[in-house]
Amino acid sequence: MAVMIDGKAVSARLRQKMAAEVAAMKEAGVVPGLAVVLVGENPASQVYVRNKIKACEELGIRSQDYRLPEDTTQEALLDLVGELNRREDIHGILVQLPLPGQIREEAVIAAIAPEKDVDAFHARNVGKIVQGSYNFLPCTPAGVMELIRSTGVPVQGKECVVVGRSNIVGKPMALLMLHENATVTICHSRTRDLGEVTRRADILIVAIGKANFITKDMVKPGAVVIDVGMNRDENGKLCGDVDFAGVEPVAGYLTPVPGGVGPMTITMLMGNTITAAKLQGRREG
Ligand code: GUN
Repeated sequence: MAVMIDGKAVSARLRQKMAAEVAAMKEAGVVPGLAVVLVGENPASQVYVRNKIKACEELGIRSQDYRLPEDTTQEALLDLVGELNRREDIHGILVQLPLPGQIREEAVIAAIAPEKDVDAFHARNVGKIVQGSYNFLPCTPAGVMELIRSTGVPVQGKECVVVGRSNIVGKPMALLMLHENATVTICHSRTRDLGEVTRRADILIVAIGKANFITKDMVKPGAVVIDVGMNRDENGKLCGDVDFAGVEPVAGYLTPVPGGVGPMTITMLMGNTITAAKLQGRREG
């Protein structure tokens, strides 16, 4: 039976440290500030944004919430980003994705000042991550690294398989595991005989967005299995990309959905906002 990786507990420990850090920064006269921008009415995005703002409140980070209508033009959004780039009290800018069709996401990401890009999506920050020297890591992959660290299982030399190659999760995830000296394979929708590859994984990280896609026959006994998926099954119940009931008896460690990766993503965003405030505070001082 797999050991459950408790994302809520790991997250709570990190947030406790962060709250102390924010308190110390306030003493020194810097209040970290995060702008959260949501365009349109995507229900999942509304939940994510609400949780991000709540986390800010809990830690003493100042958040500013921008809700723009679905028909917002790219120009209007770029204007807002430009204004936030210039604001000294805003250290981090998060534009929730996906954006409505009339707005090019790449244009918006490119417009965010790299030192305020707390998602680490800007090409400059992505390039730094590729080179292995960075200020920010993308929140979900950084959260996954913390969860793996919490198991105490060493990463060095292990076979790691990442399923999914998105810019937000799969690609940076593979890089972070590579930095930790894992042997990394990236799989995707065109991979031939996926199960043959995933069965080799000592550490299996799944981020493809298909409910219960990874079944027990695809998992090596004792593997660390990290489920980044957030789906609804046929009954409308929240579930991951991993068939939890089937895989639990096979894996060594497993993240539940919800309560695994989810809470970590927001925690790492808080960490990036604190880092951004420190870096900008230092430059101005
Ligand atoms: N949409 C889904 N995940 C994310 C994320 O990590 N950051 C942003 N900005 N949008 C998202």
